[in-house]
Amino acid sequence: QPVTILPIPFDWGASKRGADSGAAAILQSGLTNKLQLLGREYEIRSTGYLPPPASDRRTLDRMKHWGRVLAMSEAVARETAIISGQHTFPLALGGDHSIAIGTIAGITQHKQRLGVIWIDAHADLNTPATSPSGNIHGMALAAGLGLGDTRFTSLNGKQPKLQPQRVVLVGVRELDEGEKQIIREQHITCFTMHDIDRLGMSRVMEEAIGIASHESDGVHVSFDIDSVDPREAPGTGTPVRGGLNYREAHLAMEMLYNARTVTSADFVEVNPLLDNSHLTAKLSVELIASLLGEQIL
Ligand code: ARG
Ligand code: MN
Ligand code: MN
Ligand code: MN
Repeated sequence: QPVTILPIPFDWGASKRGADSGAAAILQSGLTNKLQLLGREYEIRSTGYLPPPASDRRTLDRMKHWGRVLAMSEAVARETAIISGQHTFPLALGGDHSIAIGTIAGITQHKQRLGVIWIDAHADLNTPATSPSGNIHGMALAAGLGLGDTRFTSLNGKQPKLQPQRVVLVGVRELDEGEKQIIREQHITCFTMHDIDRLGMSRVMEEAIGIASHESDGVHVSFDIDSVDPREAPGTGTPVRGGLNYREAHLAMEMLYNARTVTSADFVEVNPLLDNSHLTAKLSVELIASLLGEQIL
């Protein structure tokens, strides 16, 4: 299946600037070369349709730069809906994690019962009411579940877009109080770093894949690079110690490929301004390659 790469140079969902260059850094680190070696056809979608970042300055303390995030989300939702309709694999390159509001809205136009595996140090389950920061990247998964401001939850007309029984969190190690409550109330499956330590990544991914794909039309992987330990992935805006090691992250991608269940993906929160060595972008290329079928032997 061909891959449609969608670079999204946007960072107004985060408090630090710089993630808007993440997609360019991933492309410069050799993504398309890798895809060629894997024998994958690909197309890079132009992002000329994206609204200029300064086009909408509406903002609130509890939803910072919501005007810009909404304009971006509408454009991304429109584009990913077209891509999924063409039956290619949408690969969205962030950008901060708020881009997932748009990708999930677009993809669920075609796949009503979409499973989501959200690999992240955080849960991104805040609403404007619970968020301690007001940064919308921390509200992206909540929006998909119909929680939060209706401008974001009803992007493609219907809400909620996701069913909590098909949403799985992996790699979590920093939660806000309101997020803990949502995880409990909605019965969302959450594999924390503690669970990964105890069960091992192999067992965690087996279960995650089973839960996300159960009676689903496909599985979307939303990969926040801050899930990986900051030693391996220093270039990200909200690093948290004690993350996935290099092999655990790869194993997760390899198992997802082997399960042949993933139908779309986001790679987000790569911030080249915080990583002169470009280690984080290179790691992203390697992880994408594993997700799309690169094997050791
Ligand atoms: N939970 C924190 C917040 O809401 C951090 C979120 C970080 N999210 C991310 N996509 N890196 O502000
Ligand atoms: Mn910027
Ligand atoms: Mn995160
Ligand atoms: Mn995130």
